[in-house]
Amino acid sequence: MKPNDLVVITGNAHPRLARAVTDSIGIELGEVRCGRFPDGEIEVKVLCDVRGSDCFVVQPTCHPVNDNLMELLVLIDCLKRASARRITAVIPYFGYARQDRKDEGRVPITAKLVANLLERAGAHRVLTLDLHAPQIQGFFDIPVDHLYASPVLGTYLRQLQIENLVVASPDVGGSKMAWSYAKLLGGRFAMVEKRRVSAEETQVQFVIGDVKGCNVVLVDDMISTGGSIVEAACVLKDKGANEVYICATHPVLAGNAVAKLCEAPVKQVILTDSIPTEGKIQDPRFHICSVAPLLGEAIRRIHRHESISSLFRGSARGMRGV
Ligand code: R5P
Repeated sequence: MKPNDLVVITGNAHPRLARAVTDSIGIELGEVRCGRFPDGEIEVKVLCDVRGSDCFVVQPTCHPVNDNLMELLVLIDCLKRASARRITAVIPYFGYARQDRKDEGRVPITAKLVANLLERAGAHRVLTLDLHAPQIQGFFDIPVDHLYASPVLGTYLRQLQIENLVVASPDVGGSKMAWSYAKLLGGRFAMVEKRRVSAEETQVQFVIGDVKGCNVVLVDDMISTGGSIVEAACVLKDKGANEVYICATHPVLAGNAVAKLCEAPVKQVILTDSIPTEGKIQDPRFHICSVAPLLGEAIRRIHRHESISSLFRGSARGMRGV
């Protein structure tokens, strides 16, 4: 076997996470030049030997989503043309996942388009984390390994030893995920009923379940504008909740989301590093749990043809969907 049979490379989306992943595996990050031509086109050269290698490209498709997605596609194309044996797109945050169905006339299904692009570019597999909709796996005709951040976030939440715990979902779509966390943490379940008015605006109607005097962990897959989760936190407080914690896998944190979260009546905001947050967060109430060891272990197992599902044995699958 070649000494560099396992190669992990990255673009510019989240090099710190990619480095933490390779550190956890105990290998060096593969050397790549990923820049721009003077007109803004992406210019890539893989500087390490990848011929016949098992290659992983770590690249969340977060903001700026189109640049990061295009870099990922160009890197995959580059590896294919350099005769890599197998190419896995490691996408800790899968952007465009919220456009996953045609729920009105004349709208695209962008999650499917992204799946097509990844396959066409030359990806043989996808490794991702807490997809907004688990059925996106079916948009691919190549294997998709879908990881859950629940073992990572659950370990941190358990350490907090929150008493009289209720785990709440900010909407119906997240209820399965909140149920799984309630089971994992040994708490009761509640749900806030949210209606989306527009991409920026939501309206909360009522809360299902008793939260009076309880400490509530609000769980979601992502925080984008922060509208859903902050509104849910305020409603829970109005209904008599004691401390409210916010816990989400993907810190999209668009626009003034951080300011909104800082003003929210919450004890802590617990996130992962699936998306970089450097320079965005100063408030000590934010806690970032790293998913790098989880991704590293999954890469190691895929490389050795070992089971991924056994990584989650005994821990709840924090999956969205009802
Ligand atoms: C909803 O379907 C998602 O799980 C999130 O609740 C939502 O996308 C978060 O968006 P925002 O932070 O903009 O309310």
